[in-house]
Amino acid sequence: MFEEAQYFAPVSAQDDGSVVVELATSHPGFADQVYRARRNAIAALAVNHRQGEPIPAAEYTEQEHRIWSLISHELAIKHRKYATAEYLEGASRLGLPTDRIPQLQEVSELLEPLTGFRYLPAAGLVPLRDFYGVLADGYFHSTQYIRHHSVPFYTPEPDVVHEVIGHANALANDRFAALYRLAGAAARRVESDEALEFVSKVFWFTLEFGVMAESGELRAYGAGILSSYGEIEEFRGMDIRPLDLRVMGATQYDITKYQDVLFRAESMRHLEDVVGAFWETCDDDSIAELQAGVISR
Ligand SMILES: [Fe+2]
Repeated sequence: MFEEAQYFAPVSAQDDGSVVVELATSHPGFADQVYRARRNAIAALAVNHRQGEPIPAAEYTEQEHRIWSLISHELAIKHRKYATAEYLEGASRLGLPTDRIPQLQEVSELLEPLTGFRYLPAAGLVPLRDFYGVLADGYFHSTQYIRHHSVPFYTPEPDVVHEVIGHANALANDRFAALYRLAGAAARRVESDEALEFVSKVFWFTLEFGVMAESGELRAYGAGILSSYGEIEEFRGMDIRPLDLRVMGATQYDITKYQDVLFRAESMRHLEDVVGAFWETCDDDSIAELQAGVISR
């Protein structure tokens, strides 16, 4: 079974200025020293990058470009069947290359004229407050490496396929871009870690793993589903629940497996009315009230 997860390998900066990505022994690239050296070099690009500077180009092998090409062709076919109209509209506006991995700087330059969003390179896990906060300014933190070539349809961590095919295509759509910005504004507004976690869970169950009714069938708009070759074929069979903020904020999830509980918006407008309006106005008090069940949505 193919799997896609959101586990980030730890990254550490050494005293000599080099950067080391610690891949788990179960990672498909663990024993590949050439891949690991490339991962370290790509992580160093992000560690040394400063916002406002161009994003340095990552070096990819021909084999890695072919993996991107294979995945993007396969996913594009599945997207026509499973992705929502707004996501497809974003993908068509953005026009990502399908024959090679685009550099993040290039993705940024394609995206900015459309919705104002720009990419920032991330070496690994970005603290929640930073990751979400800068969405309010139109910045999206993104990893730059690609999965190991031995398993083109599997990655234990979010790679450039997830970040760009999953997220950039959505960020190229005006309505989704507005939702990402509202999530960022919410993350900036809330003060407690608990409230921030609530905001991030709503993000997880919508912009990462959201599904939506469209023309009488269930389609996906979440980047985690739309970038996963396996999960995209499975989501319709999951436990599909109504879009409910309180329930989303209280639902636990396992990042290492397919998401088996998903929340369905009835339309894009419904998503905006429930989730967009929540992010637009929420604060620590309103979230505490939601958690206490005082307000039903
Ligand atoms: Fe993501």
